[in-house]
Parts: sequence; C-alpha cells; structure tokens
Amino acid sequence: MDLVTTPPLDSLTVDEKAALLSGADFWHTAALEAHGVPSIMLTDGPHGLRKQRGSGDHLGLGDSVPATCFPPAVAMGSSWDVDLIRRVGEAIGTEAAIEDVAVVLGPGVNIKRTPLCGRNFEYFSEDPIVAGVLGAAMVNGIQSRGVGASLKHFAVNNQETDRMRVSADVDPRPLREIYLRAFGRVVTDAHPWTVMCSYNRVNGVYASEDRWLLTTVLREEWGFDGVVVSDWGAVDDRVRALAAGLDLEMPGSRGVTTAQLLAAVADGSLDPAALDAAAARMLALVDRTGARAPEPGPLDVDAHHALAREAAGRSIVLLKNEGGLLPLSPHADIAVIGAFAAAPRYQGAGSSMINPTRLDRAVDEIRAMASGSVTHAAGFDTAVDASETEAARLLDEAVAAATGADVAVVFLGLPARLESEGYDRDDVDLPANQLAVLRAVVDANPNTVVVLSNGGVVTLPFAADVPAILEGWLLGQAGGGATADVLFGVVNPSAKLTETIPLRLADSPAHLDFPGEFSHVRYGEGLFVGYRWYDARDLDVAHPFGHGLSYTTFEYGPATASGLADGDVEVALTVTNTGPVAGREIVQLYSSLPGATTQRPPRELKAFASVPLEAGETREVTLTVRRRDLAYWDIRVDAWIVEGGTYAFDVAASSRDVRSTVHVEVPGDPVAVPLSRASSIGEVLADPAAGPILRAAMAEMTGDAPAAVMPEGVDLSKLLDSFPIGRVTMFGADVDPAMIDALIAARPSGGAEA
Ligand code: BGC
Repeated sequence: MDLVTTPPLDSLTVDEKAALLSGADFWHTAALEAHGVPSIMLTDGPHGLRKQRGSGDHLGLGDSVPATCFPPAVAMGSSWDVDLIRRVGEAIGTEAAIEDVAVVLGPGVNIKRTPLCGRNFEYFSEDPIVAGVLGAAMVNGIQSRGVGASLKHFAVNNQETDRMRVSADVDPRPLREIYLRAFGRVVTDAHPWTVMCSYNRVNGVYASEDRWLLTTVLREEWGFDGVVVSDWGAVDDRVRALAAGLDLEMPGSRGVTTAQLLAAVADGSLDPAALDAAAARMLALVDRTGARAPEPGPLDVDAHHALAREAAGRSIVLLKNEGGLLPLSPHADIAVIGAFAAAPRYQGAGSSMINPTRLDRAVDEIRAMASGSVTHAAGFDTAVDASETEAARLLDEAVAAATGADVAVVFLGLPARLESEGYDRDDVDLPANQLAVLRAVVDANPNTVVVLSNGGVVTLPFAADVPAILEGWLLGQAGGGATADVLFGVVNPSAKLTETIPLRLADSPAHLDFPGEFSHVRYGEGLFVGYRWYDARDLDVAHPFGHGLSYTTFEYGPATASGLADGDVEVALTVTNTGPVAGREIVQLYSSLPGATTQRPPRELKAFASVPLEAGETREVTLTVRRRDLAYWDIRVDAWIVEGGTYAFDVAASSRDVRSTVHVEVPGDPVAVPLSRASSIGEVLADPAAGPILRAAMAEMTGDAPAAVMPEGVDLSKLLDSFPIGRVTMFGADVDPAMIDALIAARPSGGAEA
C-alpha cells in the first residue's frame, strides 16, 4: 500500500461520508477515488491470517491464501507469556502486511463463562486479567507492524447459541469486573485501532446499538480513539447503530443502509455530527493503516513455522506425570495410538480457520526424533457413522500395538464437528469410543501417556488410571512437532491452565443459566466465574486454574510486599529452579480482602509472570498489582472503588497451590453516596458530615444508654442499620422531619472512605 493522506473531512459530501461507513464488499471498505481515499481490507484473525481468494464468507468455507496457523488462543493463553504472544502478533502483522491487509480481526478476549461455548478455542481465559494482558500483547504485536488489530467481540459474547439475538442479562458488577475488564485493559494498554462489536444484546440492547457500551464506556471512559466495526452482519438498525457509536458496518449492504443513513440525516432523525464523527474516524483509520511502509515479502515460511512450533511447545500443559514417565527416552519402543496423531486437530472451525502453509503430524515428528521403534494404530474413527465391526478392528489393532511397547502414547480429542463457531457443545465428554480404546490400551500397557486435542475443556474420567496426561489443546500447524518436543523433553513443558477443568459439567458456574431461553440468558452466577466459583463453593475440580507441571521443580522464596506511591502494590519474591533441567515457572499473584463489605470471590488473580530459569538458577520476580485492579464496581455511585483494608496477596503456583501470603494495608477511595430519605440510618451514620450530627441527636434522644430503650437481647445498632431514615417518624419517634431534611443536605461533595 502506498503512503496515504486522506482529505479533510469537509471536502467530502454527505453521500461520500456515508459511503465510507459501510463495506464495499465482504472484506473491503469503500474507496473514494476522487479524493484519493483507498479501499482497505479487514480480514480474520485471530491466530493467523485468513485472507480469502474468492468471494467471502465468514464460516471459513472459502479458500484462503496460505498463512501460518499459530496456536489458537486457548493454547497460547496457557503460555501466560506476554513476550511470546507479542512475537506471534508481530508475525501475524507481518503476514498481513505482505498480503496488504490493513486490519486483522482479532484478538478475541471474551471470557470463558461456560466450558460449553463452541468458540472457547478462540478465547484466552476464564479470568479477565489473563485475557486482558495477553490480548494487549497480541494487539501490540500486530500493530507494531503497521497493521491494525480488531479487539473482539465487544461485549459479553460468551456463547454461540442464538448468538445473533440472545441478550446477555448481566448485573453491573460482573459486567464491569469480569466481562468488560479485559476489553478495558486492552484498550487502555494497547490502543487497538479498531474494536468489533458483538452480535448479541447486552441487557436487552444490541451491542451494535448500545451507546453506553460503544461511546460512554469505550470512548469516554477508556479513551478509545479508533473505529468501531460491526461483527459481520451484527447491525440490526443502521441508523440507531451509527448514533450509538458504530462507525463501520461490515460487510456491505449494497447501498441499502447507506441510503438509510442519508435519509435519516435528511429528515433530521440522525445528527449529521454523528455521521461526521464516524467518517472522520474512518479517514483516520485509512491514514493509520496507510502509513505503513510496503512489506514486499515473500513470507519466511520456515521462520514462522518455527515460531509456531515454539509457541505450541509453550502451550502444552503437563497435567499429570506420575513416576516421571515423561519425558520419554528416545530409545524407547513407542506405540503411537489415535487418529489425531496422523490427522491432527489443530484449529477450530469457523471464521478463524486458516489454510496452513504446512502441517506437522505428531506421528512423523515422533518417528523423526525416536531411535527406538515407533508403531502407529489409528485406534478409533472420528466419523459419526463408524461401524461397530470397524471399531472393534481398530481397537484390537491399538491393543496389539500397545502390547510389548515400552510406552503407549494415546492421542485423544474432540472430533472437529463437536466444537465450532456458531454453536455450543452439548457436553464436556470425550467420545465413548475413544475412552473405550484408552481403557483397553491401559489394560495392555499401563505405561500410557494421554495427549489431548480439544478446543474446549474435557473431563478426564481416566485420570486415575493413566500416569501421564498432556493437554495439547489445538496447537496450530506445528503442533505435531511441538508435541514430540515435549514428549522427548527437548522442550520442558511450562504452560498452565487459564481455565478450570471441572470434574463434572454440573459443577460449572453457569450450569443452571445456560444457554438461556427465549433469547435471554441470565448470568446468575454473577462474579463467580471460573475458579472464583469453584473456590467459593469449595468444589473439588479435576485440575484448578493455574495448574501445570514441569520436568523440573521450583521453590518459592518468601514474598515481601509494599505499597507504591501511585497506589499500586508491588510483591517481590525469589524463585529457584531446584531440578535438573532448565524450565519456566508461571508465578501467579491473587488478592483477597478478608472481611470485605462487598461480595468478593475468595481469591482473584491480579498479576503473573512467566519466569525462565536454568537448572539451579534463582531469580527475583516482581509482580505489580494495579490499584485499579483491586477496585470493585460500586453500583451506588457507578464508579470503581477501592475498599480500604488489609489485603492478602497470595503468591501461588496455581489457584489452589499458594506458596506464601503477604498483607498490605491499602487506603480506600472516598465514596460520595448521595443521601436521601431512603438512606438507612447506618448509611447516614457512616457519612462524614451527616453521621456526627445524627449520632449526637440520637444520644440526646435516648440518653447515654440507647440500649435501655430496647428489650434486652435486641441489638439496636443492627436493627437501625438498614432502617430508612425517612420512615422513623412512622414508628412514633419524636423526630422533626425538617431535621431529617437538614441531615440529608449535610452531605458534603467528598464522601466516606470505602
Ligand atoms: C465472527 C467474527 C469474524 C467475522 C468475519 C463473524 O462471524 O464472529 O469473529 O471476524 O465473522 O469473518
């Protein structure tokens, strides 16, 4: 693309401005040739480039140019590694630049509310700090190449069922503290050039028409200065959407909605200033994307494949490794079992489907690294209609391969049709035929390693019976090589779970409120998403959030904490690699406020670090908790409030493996809660101005011993705590209503400390 400087807005006619706000076709914006404004291309994303060659579709059906298929977010999230994800973002940005793509449609930072969401493979975590920090890394990487990112799907798009209509009905605290938090983090830290609004409704309003979401929160609170683009086909009413802050509708509507915009401006129902603002933002985007120097290519396929392999190796979670079965000796005789070893499941279906530049098969990579014998048996068929005779034959073949081998490595996973964009899963189980093969193989050879390929979590009913389990997620095009690297210890696994693996679906937080009915889904679990739920309910899980093993061991030194001048909190500790090989440890920091006055999950992640350590090496690790991240959303004043108190900070190897706890006194924010006749006596007493006046008046009325007026055993202060002050006269108290009004008026503009 040549360097572009767009014309001043006022040189454009109203028609031209409106034309800019709707796609010219499936993937391109409209050009204004008379003004030298080029058309730009926006295309998927998020874990590689899907640039279609022919006519477009958003289902991943049509052919696209070959591009490196990096591990999807479910996998890369497990690396918890900002630098790695940034490097992958840079590589995607480079590939986009070579293909003259202006904006890559990703990353997605929606929260994994339920393990059933068909699109969980595209998302990073059940935790907003993980999703936000890693999403920001991806945006930084892509945009460092002069290519825009599109942060999606804004917002509260946590299921595929009825995704184009469903209303996510969510209370203000979880909305702010869980579902919007990751988006806010990415916008303020990484400044994506575009944000993609989601299909669904939020509390009854289409995201595409939600002025509060697209303008008040996104632009006014977070300072977003880019273009809001619709998800493909997410616009229901174009005029309302534009007024709400949706700049670019994609794909195009062949002029239909442009005419609607023009008619609305003409009849006065749409403020021309809204049209101007959106057109100006589109021109600014064209300028931004046009400022990039040309990237002639060609794509360095080998280098990007190597990066994809590195990223995949860093994404594999070692869930279990009893008796040190892993890593395998290269001299071992290995039975590789399972269809996925030869026909990998390496990405999810839908708009993110990439046409990979090449594709590793685990069985070939294992063969290449082994010096012992390697046999392969498919073990099972992933097709729905496999016959029983065929199943029996495959099972016998698998048992024969396992018998006599030193070790059986069994590749199990979800067949592709079970998880996809566009629909959700029905359960979290691996197919019964695969579990049957595993049982038979374990009976024949207890030295069995399970390698999983799945985009959404699966339950592990076999966990007690197999000594070693690798969670391989969907690993992208180099997953086969990366799996061999980890199996043989060329790469020491260092990934950890960014989502809980439950024992049963019925234990999961949204179980009774999913997928909703009549196009409404109630987020009844509130703040208690993911580990916040399992911890608060004291539920056993298969593997907790943050869990992941290594071939080495790590020791945590004692932690120290200090409050910084800007209100942030810094926690420092040392970590030592006490084992025989180099590795990485993901150190996690959780906070809690014992005795908090607001509802709080028992423990919430606030910071983390992926720490590389040579064998025997010790490093100092410093984790910073932003003061803002300690805040809750106060519905009384519609603001973030840090409650004052002594916070506990847990330094942990997983959400259920706390290594040390430090305490820090954190001052609270003032809360200016407005007083009214409906305010309770407790609230008035807590007010710095009205409180002392009321206290004095009460002492005068009841004498020095207020309890004396109450029957014995009644706690007067508790009784009055929630009693509305405007009602006291109704209970015969001799109180002048004018005094109540005076009290209410006494509240200062400041407020009480939380
Ligand atoms: C998806 C988006 C994607 C778009 C374009 C939509 O169906 O939800 O994530 O970027 O299609 O393919």
